[in-house]
Amino acid sequence: MGFLTLEGRVAMVTGAAQGIGFHTARMMCRNGMKTALVDMNGEKLEKMAAGLNASGGAEAFPLVCDVSDHASIGRAVEAAAERFGGLDVLVNGAGILSAAKIPEIQLEEWEKILKVNLTGSFFMIQKALPYLTKSKHPRIINIASVAGRMGGVGNSMSYAASKGGMIAITRGCARHLGPLGITVNAVCPGPTRTPIMDAYTAEQMKILEGQNVLGRIGESDDVAAGICYLASEEAGYVTGIALDINGGFWMG
Ligand SMILES: NC(=O)c1ccc[n+]([C@@H]2O[C@H](COP(=O)([O-])OP(=O)(O)OC[C@H]3O[C@@H](n4cnc5c(N)ncnc54)[C@H](O)[C@@H]3O)[C@@H](O)[C@H]2O)c1
Repeated sequence: MGFLTLEGRVAMVTGAAQGIGFHTARMMCRNGMKTALVDMNGEKLEKMAAGLNASGGAEAFPLVCDVSDHASIGRAVEAAAERFGGLDVLVNGAGILSAAKIPEIQLEEWEKILKVNLTGSFFMIQKALPYLTKSKHPRIINIASVAGRMGGVGNSMSYAASKGGMIAITRGCARHLGPLGITVNAVCPGPTRTPIMDAYTAEQMKILEGQNVLGRIGESDDVAAGICYLASEEAGYVTGIALDINGGFWMG
């Protein structure tokens, strides 16, 4: 057993078919956490969960859900809690990106980004509460972004607004849910090598690397490790923080 207690805990990770969400779910399963993997990309989700289950570790349970579909959120939380007999950890990782410039942003895009990244995360928290309050060491972890810190990094204002909002609801929920023993934290990744970054050209990636003190783009496991710490029993005195995992790309 490592110095962090993860074994036997139950997690639900959204955006878990690929990228940071998948790597987080994988790290959790490998460390003995039963994990519900939630994503709208059903085909990929089933494949990734089957791969995890074939490689040992705790159970990975795939749940198809579009976090922007209000009814679907409640059903997914119930299904996860039912499968594993409760819920200790919620990770809000599902997110979409846009790079539209200010004059080009359409209302439809603005609303879609907020609906997935921010509204979906908030209602996941709301629906998970009845289960989290029954856990001995309940944790909520929101994947925000350096974009929420800086007002975007070549991203659309809709993305920056959603991630700034994510940091705000993290702090607000931490304040309101602390008395129930629930910790609520955010992680703020800098540019991280995942499929979401396919929108960036090789040249743009080089520029991002050059702006990073450690001289490299982040990997999903860099972020997953921070999330697993916040998910552990030992992180019980940490709440309301936004943990920057960005290789020095931005320093408060
Ligand atoms: N990669 C980065 O550089 C970076 C930096 C900062 C923050 N983030 C954030 O980290 C999180 C994960 O990003 P990633 O880079 O792994 O992205 P990704 O595109 O690789 O993965 C995102 C996953 O979310 C799923 N998803 C999207 N919309 C959904 C919806 N409505 N319902 C359910 N699932 C949905 C996708 O199917 C996908 O599997 C996002 O919230 C993103 O904003 C990423």
